[in-house]
Amino acid sequence: LRGLGRFWFGLEPQTQGRFTSTASAQKENTTAKAAKESKTFQAIQEERREQAERSVLISCPSKINEKKFLDYLSKHGTINKHFFYNSYGAYAVVEFSSRESIASLKESINIPAVEHEAAVPFKSRLLSFKWPGSQSSSHPMPKFKVQSPPSINEINQLLSEKDSIDEQLQCLTEALELTEENVSLRFLVCSLLRDITGAYFPECIIRPFGSTVNSFGKLGCDVDMILDLEGIYATSQKKGSGLSLEYQVKRGASERAVTQSILSVIGKCVDQFGPGCVGVQNILQARCPLVRFSHQPSGFQCDLTANNRVAMKSSELLFLYGQLDPRVRHLVFGVRCWARVHSITSSIPGAWITNFSLTVMVVFFLQQRNPPILPTLDRLKELAGPSDKCVIEGNDCTIVSDLSKITLQQNTDTLEKLLQEFFEFYGNFPFNKASINIRKGKEQTKPETTALYIQNPFETTLNISKNVNATQLERFVALCRESAWLLQQKEILNRSSDSPWGFAALLLPSVTSGAGVKSRRKRKLEPASSRIKNLLDSLKIKGGETVAKKGSA
Ligand code: CTP
Ligand code: MG
Repeated sequence: LRGLGRFWFGLEPQTQGRFTSTASAQKENTTAKAAKESKTFQAIQEERREQAERSVLISCPSKINEKKFLDYLSKHGTINKHFFYNSYGAYAVVEFSSRESIASLKESINIPAVEHEAAVPFKSRLLSFKWPGSQSSSHPMPKFKVQSPPSINEINQLLSEKDSIDEQLQCLTEALELTEENVSLRFLVCSLLRDITGAYFPECIIRPFGSTVNSFGKLGCDVDMILDLEGIYATSQKKGSGLSLEYQVKRGASERAVTQSILSVIGKCVDQFGPGCVGVQNILQARCPLVRFSHQPSGFQCDLTANNRVAMKSSELLFLYGQLDPRVRHLVFGVRCWARVHSITSSIPGAWITNFSLTVMVVFFLQQRNPPILPTLDRLKELAGPSDKCVIEGNDCTIVSDLSKITLQQNTDTLEKLLQEFFEFYGNFPFNKASINIRKGKEQTKPETTALYIQNPFETTLNISKNVNATQLERFVALCRESAWLLQQKEILNRSSDSPWGFAALLLPSVTSGAGVKSRRKRKLEPASSRIKNLLDSLKIKGGETVAKKGSA
C-alpha cells in the first residue's frame, strides 16, 4: 500500500495562471530571523505551523519546467513561496497565501488509477505532478535546495579556508544549521501527519520539538514530534445552573496507558494509510512511548510522541539560551560536531552521551564563566511575567518569554578561549561526586551513583543522561583532555595550508586510548596513504596476525 495514496493532477499547458513571482527563501536561519523580529518562541512556532497548513508537497519530474508548474498551480491562488529539493526523486514545497487554495487544488485532482494494486483513498497533501508527453529540456532547470549536511571532507575544506578558530566555528554553524527551507519542510511533514491523526482527534496539533525548533538542529537530524491533544480539554465550561454534561469517555489505567493506546492506533494508521510513511515501529514501552517511522518524500526520520509537553518546554529553554548570545550556538555546534566525529554521540540509542546532554553541558559551562555568559534557569523563572506561568504535571516550567527582560553581563571571551576552557572544564570535572544543574548554575552533590548526572531542567528528579555508562564517560573525559592539550600547542593554532589546524585538528582521529597524545601531531602530518597503512598495520596487530612485524599499535 505504501506510496500509493498519493494524488496526481495533469498539467494543462494552455492555462495561464495568476502566479506572482515567489520571493525565494533566503538562507536565513530561524534563530537569526527570530532575533531580528524579537518574536517569542510560541509565536514563531505558530507562524510556521500556519504556513505549513497552507502548503503542499509535490513529487515532480526532475527536469520540470518551473514556470509552467507554477503557472498551473497559481490557478488555485497566489503562491507565497516555493522551493525544490531532491530526496530519491524531485519534490517541490509550495506555500499558498491562503488555505482556500489547498481546497481548490484538492477539488481539481484525482485519485490515481493503480494497475494490479488497489489504492487507499486518502486525500493527503502529498501530491504527484504528472507531465503529459515528453518534455523539452530547453527551459532552465530549477535550483534544488540541499537538505543534507556537508561531508566531513567538505567541512574540513571549509575550515581550512578560515583565519581563526572563531571564524571556523561560525562557519561550521552556518554549514550545519537547519536552513529556512529545511525547517519549512519539517513543519510541513508534521502538518501532513496531522491530516491523518485529525481523523481520530479533529482538535489535535502535531508540533515539532527537540532540535527542529531549539536552534541547535543540524541538517539531517531527526524530527521529534508531539501529538498535542490539549485543545480537546479547552472546551468552554458553562457555569451557573448547577447542571452539566460530560463527554462519555473510554478510560485507561493511567496516563501512560492512555498515551500508549492512542499511539498504538495512530501508529497503525500511519503505517497503513500514511502516504510516504515507511518502516513504522511502535516503541510503546519506552519511558516516553513513541511511534518511529521514515517519511520517504522528505527523507526524515520521525519520532512521534504524545503527552510530552515538558519536552516542548525544554526545547523553548534551549532556544532561548541559543538566542541570548551567538557564541552559545557556535560552541554547541562545534562540540556536537567534535563529539559525533569521535563517536562520543551516535545515531543508535545506547550508553552514549546524547546531543541534548551535550547542549545542557555547554549551557552549564557558560553559566560558570566569570562573568557568566548565560543566566541560570532560576533567574529565567524570576524574570517571567504572569502570562509565562506554566506548570506541567506538577513541574514548574515557568521561564521568561520576553528576551528583552534579560540583561547579560559583559563577557568578551573569544570562541577559541571558550572552546579551550570547555575541554579543560570537563576534562577535570568531578563527575564522580558532582551533578550538572543549569537551574542553579552550580554543581550539586550527585543524588545517585550513575556515571553522569545532568539534572533534567524541568523534571528535576530525573537525570537526562541516566543512559551513559562509565566507559562512555571516560572516553568523553579523555577526549576533552586530549583536545585541551592540542589547543595549547602552537602548531595546532597556527593557520597552515597543508594540514588541518585549529578546530579541524580536533576532528582528526584520536589516539587517546592508543600510543599517546604526543604522537598524534606527527601522525597527522604524514600523508594520508601512510596514515592508512599504519592504521591497517595496527588493526592487524590487534588481530594478532603481525605482532612480530611491529612493536607498537
Ligand atoms: N529529551 C528529554 N530528556 C531526555 C532526552 C530527550 O527531555 N533524556 C527531550 C529534549 O527536549 C530533546 C528532545 O527530547 O531536545 C528530543 O530528543 P533527541 O532527539 O534525543 O534530542 P535533540 O535535542 O532533538 O537532538 P538530536 O539532534 O540529536 O535529535
Ligand atoms: Mg531529535
